[in-house]
Amino acid sequence: MREAAQSVRMLPPGPRGVPILGVLPALRRNPTAVFMSAARRYGDVVYLKIGSRRGFLITNPADVRHVLQANARNYHKSPLYAKLRMSLGNGLLTSEDEFWLRQRRIAQPAFHRERIAALASVMADAARDTAARWQSIALRGEPADVAEEMMRLTRTVVLRALLGADLGPFATNIDHAWTIINQRIGESFWSLGFTDWLPTSKYRQFQAARAVLRGAVDHVISQRRRRPSDSADLLSMLLSARDEETGEAMTDEQLRVEVTTFLLAGQETTSLALTWTWYLLSQHPRVQRRLEEQVDAVLNGRPPEYTDLVNLPYTRMVIDEAMRLYPPAWGFSRQALADDELGGFHLPRGWLAFVIPYVLHRLPAFWQDPEAFDPERFLPERSADRPKFVYLPFGAGPRQCIGNQFAMIEAQLIVATLAQRYRLHLVPQHRVEPWALITLRPRFGMPSASHASPPRSGSRHCSAPSTLPWSSAGTRTCSSTGSSRGDASSMPAASACRLRRRVGPTGCSWGPAYSCTERSTTSRRPRTTFGRRPTHRRRRSLCATLSTRRQRTNRSRCSQAQS
Ligand code: HEM
Repeated sequence: MREAAQSVRMLPPGPRGVPILGVLPALRRNPTAVFMSAARRYGDVVYLKIGSRRGFLITNPADVRHVLQANARNYHKSPLYAKLRMSLGNGLLTSEDEFWLRQRRIAQPAFHRERIAALASVMADAARDTAARWQSIALRGEPADVAEEMMRLTRTVVLRALLGADLGPFATNIDHAWTIINQRIGESFWSLGFTDWLPTSKYRQFQAARAVLRGAVDHVISQRRRRPSDSADLLSMLLSARDEETGEAMTDEQLRVEVTTFLLAGQETTSLALTWTWYLLSQHPRVQRRLEEQVDAVLNGRPPEYTDLVNLPYTRMVIDEAMRLYPPAWGFSRQALADDELGGFHLPRGWLAFVIPYVLHRLPAFWQDPEAFDPERFLPERSADRPKFVYLPFGAGPRQCIGNQFAMIEAQLIVATLAQRYRLHLVPQHRVEPWALITLRPRFGMPSASHASPPRSGSRHCSAPSTLPWSSAGTRTCSSTGSSRGDASSMPAASACRLRRRVGPTGCSWGPAYSCTERSTTSRRPRTTFGRRPTHRRRRSLCATLSTRRQRTNRSRCSQAQS
């Protein structure tokens, strides 16, 4: 008996870190690496000292279930969310208890499956608009950023489907503003606190970004108030919600907070799920071909509809697997309201419990060859025995993502629409690295900011201001023997058009040049170009045009960089 009591009180093992700060400096450098190595080295429950805070990293599915579901009442979102609250306000994502429950009940009907099914055509239309945009981008030979493209697309979907609005003059600045906010909050998770509010230039940038976000949201609300709509979308629900006791509507401030939450939570995470999906597909031609084969066989060239999704299981598995390797919400945490017990260890009141999908999704005990991209691990027969709480892209329990079905339907429709016409190729040698902010973004090469990545020693990055190096066009094949439907599986292994990176005399490496070479090599290092799938008649001439235009543009960029 005494032994049992003692074992419950024992502190679990964990990394010591540095005096006073514990693992805080390491977390600032690379949080996912810290959590990964802690789980590998110390097991199911790991003690972490993070500056003045203490907590456990938990990776046993039973403990995760306990915190997120079985004993969820004993946990609030951790103080790290306070940083998010300061930017987004106290809304559905960040609030607690009665207030949270009230907001969740107001919004929930907008996310019923039948209602989302009715929005599928809005999603598919937006994807088709993007396909059309890509075509003209490809023909103009302009560079494009796939992360940016996905951000724009998912934002359009949220705006059209849930808020029935557009962003008007704010559309161009909103992504950049959100990138600044995301970076600032993501980094401040692991700061000492008092440094967050020093009036540095970064802080001023952050405030300016918040003002842009606020302006955009005010625009959405005032647009609707000027032109009321009889559609029963999320914004109508928020506008018409009344307090059960007082009968009062939401204040303008509360409305602003909820619209901001849905706008950001709805676009950012889904766009990242898609960005990582395209990245992984570009690195795994076999998976890509299989996906295209199924999409082509089911859709036969027509746009996908909601009822098609049941016949596109492979698309779903590909997205599931991309979110396993790169969960957009890579980690979250809770704070214990009262003492608890986790994995036989005593968790004192006020301590944190870290649930890190990035780690859970790689536990060798549940995932065979965890680093491999293998969508088939989501086949029913291979996933039947896997515990639910080791795969948590959308969280779990009462605070599970309200938009999970919306996001999955949207992502499947987008992948199916675009994979019919396009294939993404990464430009060789580009470095793709996950960047764990609030969400898991690609650090280099796919951010939506229009600044170049900072120069890194040993890297071949150019510090010139630039749009990012994903480039449009460059069809998969230059051969005129390709199938007219673009069925990749029927393509001969003839010549292929691929994007090569030019390294100029300045070491500037973002000057891609197109050339027609033997068979496209997607297996090299990351970096992407998106190209139309080989349905194209004028492949050779397009490649030639792109080649010269691109070289001209890049020459002038490189000389700007030098001067
Ligand atoms: C692939 C896409 C998405 C991913 C990976 C994702 C992930 C998550 C996760 C992990 C949580 C729980 C966080 C926690 O427990 O601390 C969450 C909550 C939330 N998500 Fe999502 N999400 C996605 C799409 C969406 C969409 C499309 C919307 C809305 C349009 C949305 C709105 C929200 C909201 C409002 C919450 C807070 C729910 C609550 O606490 O009651 N998400 N999301």
